[in-house]
Amino acid sequence: MTNTSTILAELRLDGILCLTINRIAQLNALSIATMNELEMLLKQAQEEEQVRAILLTGAGEKAFVAGADIGEFTQLDASESRSFAQRGQRILRQLEAMSVPVLAAINGFALGGGCELALACHLRVASEKASLGLPEVKLGIIPGYGGTQRLTQLVGRGKALELMLTGNPVPAAEALRIGLVNHVVSADQLLPFSLGILQQIVARAPIALAKVIEAVAAAQDGNAEGYNVEARGFESCCHSADFREGVAAFLEKRPAAFDGR
Ligand code: COA
Repeated sequence: MTNTSTILAELRLDGILCLTINRIAQLNALSIATMNELEMLLKQAQEEEQVRAILLTGAGEKAFVAGADIGEFTQLDASESRSFAQRGQRILRQLEAMSVPVLAAINGFALGGGCELALACHLRVASEKASLGLPEVKLGIIPGYGGTQRLTQLVGRGKALELMLTGNPVPAAEALRIGLVNHVVSADQLLPFSLGILQQIVARAPIALAKVIEAVAAAQDGNAEGYNVEARGFESCCHSADFREGVAAFLEKRPAAFDGR
């Protein structure tokens, strides 16, 4: 397993593959290239017998992943926005369907697509410095990588709606309280603690682990249409003037003024 242009890949002797999203200047935002590289690395990991578990984290001290790359949104053709969302959904489903356990070690901001990435992992451990949220409505869009579905499944309808309608992130302690993460630890313990959990898991029977993951995924499959509703909703928002205003306001570092068009 080798590094790509935006993701560091290290396969440890204990079989844990560490994938580190590495775009520090953009707070590890998920560019189209990063998503392509993630897809390729996951495919390789699935085929590589030595990979027994995956730890996913972000480079630097500030961010896990601060979302999809908002700079690239200025080039997003609204007519292609549904397939943009569907492609992201597919890659995160590929992640969720890995036969080895995947743990998100959330070292800082996990916002938008970054939160959705963490939600698609099987386990989430957060640093006490982390904050998590789905702030898309502040940009005039909705989560498009499965966040509307997975957040609701994980924390329930009431909290999921509050997080997605306000767009406000929650600090790590609150994320733990509502079940959005499994554990919160100090920043310096994040990687040792996360590796410790995965080391326990990789000592278990691999086939049994794969079957647990598959069976738990099947518990949610009744809602497949929800992902289509999400992708169509994302597309509608991308056709709106509010979306253009939201993206421009973020890039110009000013508050957005939405008028519902
Ligand atoms: N896409 C692209 N670039 C991003 C980004 C994203 N999602 N999030 C942050 N960046 C960039 C910023 O544009 C900035 O670049 P610059 O130094 O060239 O101006 C750099 O990362 C640092 O971010 P900045 O906003 O200056 O840091 P901050 O500490 O003031 O705020 C956040 C941190 C995470 C609160 C803020 O960056 C933010 O709100 N990001 C967007 C989160 C979001 O809406 N994600 C969902 C996208 S769908």
